Amino acid sequence: MIRRYDFGTPIETGAVVSAPQPQAEPLPYFTLSRSDAALSFSLPLSPDEFIFGLGESVRGVNKRGYRYRSFNADESTHSEDRASLYASHNLLIFFGGTRLLGVFFDDPGAVTFDLGYTRADEAVITSENGDLRVYLIEEDSLKAIVHAFRQLIGPSYIPPKWAFGYIQSRWGYKCEAEIRDVVRGHRERHIPLDGVCMDIDYMDAFKDFTVSAERFPDLPALCEDMRGEHIRLIPIIDAGVKQEDGYDVCDEGLEKGYFCTKEDGSPFIGAVWPGRSFFPDFLREDVRAWFGAQYARLTDAGIEGFWNDMNEPALFYTPEGLEAAIAEAESMRGRNAGLDDFFHLRSVFSHIAGNPADYRSFYQQAPDGLRVRHDRVHNLYGAMMTRAAGEGMQAHEPDRRHLFFSRSSYIGAHRYGGVWQGDNKSWWSHLLLNLKMMPSLNMCGFLYTGADLGGFGCNTTEDLLLRWLQLGVFTPLMRNHAALNTRDQEIYRFGMQEDMKRVLSVRYALLPYLYSEFMKCALTDECMFRPLAFDYPQDNTACRTEDQMMLGSECMIAPVYEQNARGRHVYLPEAMLMIRLRSAEDYDLIPMDRGHHFIDLALGEFPLFVRRGCFIPFARSAEWVEAVDGTNLTLLGWLSGDAAYALYDDDGISTQVSLEAGLTPIRVRVADGQAAASGEGLTLYADKLVLD
Ligand code: NOJ
Repeated sequence: MIRRYDFGTPIETGAVVSAPQPQAEPLPYFTLSRSDAALSFSLPLSPDEFIFGLGESVRGVNKRGYRYRSFNADESTHSEDRASLYASHNLLIFFGGTRLLGVFFDDPGAVTFDLGYTRADEAVITSENGDLRVYLIEEDSLKAIVHAFRQLIGPSYIPPKWAFGYIQSRWGYKCEAEIRDVVRGHRERHIPLDGVCMDIDYMDAFKDFTVSAERFPDLPALCEDMRGEHIRLIPIIDAGVKQEDGYDVCDEGLEKGYFCTKEDGSPFIGAVWPGRSFFPDFLREDVRAWFGAQYARLTDAGIEGFWNDMNEPALFYTPEGLEAAIAEAESMRGRNAGLDDFFHLRSVFSHIAGNPADYRSFYQQAPDGLRVRHDRVHNLYGAMMTRAAGEGMQAHEPDRRHLFFSRSSYIGAHRYGGVWQGDNKSWWSHLLLNLKMMPSLNMCGFLYTGADLGGFGCNTTEDLLLRWLQLGVFTPLMRNHAALNTRDQEIYRFGMQEDMKRVLSVRYALLPYLYSEFMKCALTDECMFRPLAFDYPQDNTACRTEDQMMLGSECMIAPVYEQNARGRHVYLPEAMLMIRLRSAEDYDLIPMDRGHHFIDLALGEFPLFVRRGCFIPFARSAEWVEAVDGTNLTLLGWLSGDAAYALYDDDGISTQVSLEAGLTPIRVRVADGQAAASGEGLTLYADKLVLD
């Protein structure tokens, strides 16, 4: 059951698709208090209570014990002490105490979640706007709460099937020749690959929807050649539009008044990659339609996917902020700067980017037509950019799916695109963070997600990349991405490339299963990645386990995430079959009992656990998604009797998807120590099934 409570004058966010009527009675469970405009909701926590949710955020899957703040930030440090990341996903689920309760705080401004931080036994959620909608979700299980919430917020975005292939990316590919080299580097060595991202250098002077004539002289021809190699190019689109006379996007935006404005009504200017830029007011439907239509310039050249970036929006500085900082520094010229002066001077410049004062200095138009100060609706900016892109493509090519993933988001954007997890670092701790964010993002509707494999900032190491790929095998978005001036990170740069290639072979062999599970979750509003607590709520050890995740209906994953580790501890909440994987052809099948185990895993090995009584389909590997033969499948599992799996598949590109039409039942009959499998239109091999 979902109940809605309105406070003040809520701003329409587009997060939900079917809002129930607001309740007249007061909000139960919480104690309310006001301080100026801010409204706080307090709730006592019992000692064993868990708090799940908050989508993209730092720290554990159980969010209890820290203070988080929804205020989307260009937060490239991404470390444990950061309260905000790129996205705001204001869902909390209280579990394990005296209640089981989901709460969604639908508020596009700053919201602080003090979850047992100030006082260990209290959660205090504070809306700085004080104008918001609160939805209470009461069901009898964690899964049912998330399912009800997902029905409230509408169906998750579905990418094309090719987007489940391996994608190579780097900030620093400067010209066509470099992209061709990267593709050749993979194809010559038979390293699977389906896409290459084009970062900001493909553009002419970082201008959105332009292509550098010098460095990419013939994009349509390049796209066509790439399609011949079964590769898609995925260009980046930034939120800021360069200020430049004669640049048509800028000229038209100015002429039609499409950009965010300052208090006096003049266009707001902030600096990003091209320097001074304007920011489309994506809250407006007409602006979204205009900006969304621009993507067709690139799809008409053969592009089929995009990543939307810098859309918190990131602001390096405003002209006013820069002037003030320079003046402040000038005023210190000639001073013998000691401790205080020196730190002050340094902070003048280090606080110039993403300055809260800048976010208070411009305005947008809310859906009710009223002018609203940006900070009050800040967390919608990236979401509405993704919506612009999604709706633009729906209008342009309604029958085709397009790949979209965004850096910034708010709940609601999950209907238009996926997200990547932002600028992580080549740190082992970020491999683990990648794993922990997966279920939290799924709860909030973001199913197509993954992190920069190998790490974005800092120099990676080959063992870290190898271990990270072993997690990336399971994440719907599987992209290796690295920052400018970091060590080369393409697989073929490393001595361990054969091990990495073997890891990728598993991804392609698992593709029929991963795609099937993704689509079933998308079409039935379920989570593909779940904390163990969702499946084993009575098992205290399972509930406390945060470095293993349930994957699909049949599996559990437990990646190695520590330097020099040659194995790890795994807790099995029930008997499972461990598939110790080295490649799509080379693996061990080991039945294991419920309980604690230490599992040996050499660098090139990683485990996938399949619940006893279940099986999964495993294909022959391939070098690109379209080459995977999803009709020729080996079944892997541990059975003592008959079993079944419903395999979903479709053409991978059309927007007309239907669960009923896509499902093929696979049945295994076990008799006299023999297994026989059947499934219409499928060639199935049952010889690898472990039978009791
Ligand atoms: C910031 C993004 O997070 C990163 O992925 C990208 O490479 C840089 N912008 C440059 O476009």
